[in-house]
Amino acid sequence: MSRPQALVTRTLLPDALDIIRQAADVDVWPDEWPPTAEELRRLASGADGILTTIMDRVDGALLDAAPNLRVVSQLAVGLDNVDVAEATRRGIPVGYTPGVLAKSTADLAFALLLGAARRTVESERAVRAGGWELQFHPTHWLGQDVHEACLGIVGLGQIGREIARRARGFDMDIIYYSRTRNPAAEVEYGVRYVAFPALLAEADFVALSVPLTPETHHLISRPQLEMMKPSGILINVSRGPVVDPRALYEALRDGQIARAALDVTAPEPIAPDDPLLTLENLVITPHIGSAALPSRLNTMKLAARNLAAGLRGEPMEACANPEVYEAA
Ligand code: DGY
Repeated sequence: MSRPQALVTRTLLPDALDIIRQAADVDVWPDEWPPTAEELRRLASGADGILTTIMDRVDGALLDAAPNLRVVSQLAVGLDNVDVAEATRRGIPVGYTPGVLAKSTADLAFALLLGAARRTVESERAVRAGGWELQFHPTHWLGQDVHEACLGIVGLGQIGREIARRARGFDMDIIYYSRTRNPAAEVEYGVRYVAFPALLAEADFVALSVPLTPETHHLISRPQLEMMKPSGILINVSRGPVVDPRALYEALRDGQIARAALDVTAPEPIAPDDPLLTLENLVITPHIGSAALPSRLNTMKLAARNLAAGLRGEPMEACANPEVYEAA
């Protein structure tokens, strides 16, 4: 019997690839750049299973082009690039990677929060450019205290809860807003539920950790930025389109809010001439929230195990549409 054919759209660490190789013959897209939609359709045409990243669009056109496909495994917890409903209609299970990357992403949210609050990135840039002219000046480089400040977390999923856990170590007053209130987490993480406008008005730091959906697209736009404190700092480790970039640029330029720290942008990658990049009060990193070891390796292994299980016709460890198993 011939072995199944798997397509992996980006180079993985060897331990993860080995897991897939035990279940299938594997084609790995070797380039640094992701395949174009057309290339992806061509590559997937003979595949039984595909391991994707957030850069690959998994839509009806791709599924049409891959008639043998019986499993999609996404190397991410976010699935906004995957038409899960369409996969479900076709009985194709979609794997994803919850749990294994939440702590690393929360670590980065805190790195961004601290970097923006204490101006570490901005002052480091100044030092390198020869800007440390004075020994020490009592009024220079004043940032904002993080300890005992109010942190507003938007979205109390795994990543939001891990952000809260870290904030407790800084004695922060933690408030949250989420579509669904979570009384158990309120007790466990010492967080207080408030309405979204109240969160924006009360928080010194607003941290976004929501999935990208039609409801969260441009969740933060001009009216929301106007509700924030002028000293407020916005942190986004979720998805770029959750924030309206034009409105954010104007709010940062005009001092409507003090600073922002973004790990995600719309589009990604951000264009080199994007006006946001001209702002000193912006900290920006290139979507590295979960890019730490061993978390990334664990994420790859989970995605690999999901793919291998799907190819063997077994239930995946983490499946976004388990209803396909019931229908089968
Ligand atoms: C995720 O897992 O969704 C991260 O953003 C990395 O892709």
